[in-house]
Amino acid sequence: MVLDVSSHYRYIRKLQDSDLASIALWDRDDEVTLFSGKKFGGDAVMNAAWWRDLLTNPLRIGFAVQTVNGVLIGDAELEHITWRNGEAELRISIGDKRHWNQGYGSRAVWELLDVAYERIGLQRIYLRVKKDNQRAIRVYEKSGFKKVAMLCATGHLAGESELVLMESLAYQYSTLRALRDNWMLTPSK
Ligand SMILES: CC(C)(COP(=O)(O)OP(=O)(O)OC[C@H]1O[C@@H](n2cnc3c(N)ncnc32)[C@H](O)[C@@H]1OP(=O)(O)O)[C@@H](O)C(=O)NCCC(=O)NCCS
Repeated sequence: MVLDVSSHYRYIRKLQDSDLASIALWDRDDEVTLFSGKKFGGDAVMNAAWWRDLLTNPLRIGFAVQTVNGVLIGDAELEHITWRNGEAELRISIGDKRHWNQGYGSRAVWELLDVAYERIGLQRIYLRVKKDNQRAIRVYEKSGFKKVAMLCATGHLAGESELVLMESLAYQYSTLRALRDNWMLTPSK
């Protein structure tokens, strides 16, 4: 699904075809995909189909993650959207490792939650994260996600570390807004 968020947010924007080359390049970096899994596992035709689906499927919204200066550093998604239940799964990957630990992931997650709850009216966002991905868990907890279950890794993550299921609820999120708004105004490191 295409949702134009560009004029509303600083750290996420609409994906565009010119982003594909960088995202595909980062997908070949084992250090990046160790925690997030690979997006482009198939041949060129399958990879193109995955990208096209991301841009057009009404049950998915893809985003570019960018620096405050608009430099592409990663991608994110609200996927498996169930419009009737108001739920979606969040994923994020900062592929440009030079920008890890500078606050961009946290800021992007906050903005993704703004889109989810305030822009498109979802009520619950969940995610799955490897239990040893402490940096990501820290980012999610700061954004109000709570651990709710442990899961066996399946699909493209099968056989790897267990996953933690985390969730964020719209009514709890709204109480975090004031804290978040102050923090978002401080410059990234
Ligand atoms: C996970 C990811 C999105 C986080 O984004 P980021 O911009 O690097 O994270 P931020 O700088 O916003 O925040 C990182 C936080 O984790 C903390 N942290 C870093 N390494 C840590 C570790 N080993 N253990 C605990 N906390 C850690 C930082 O101190 C910071 O917390 P603070 O703001 O309270 O100081 C990004 O690193 C990434 O894409 N990694 C590779 C793919 C991935 O793991 N995706 C998530 C899959 S579920």
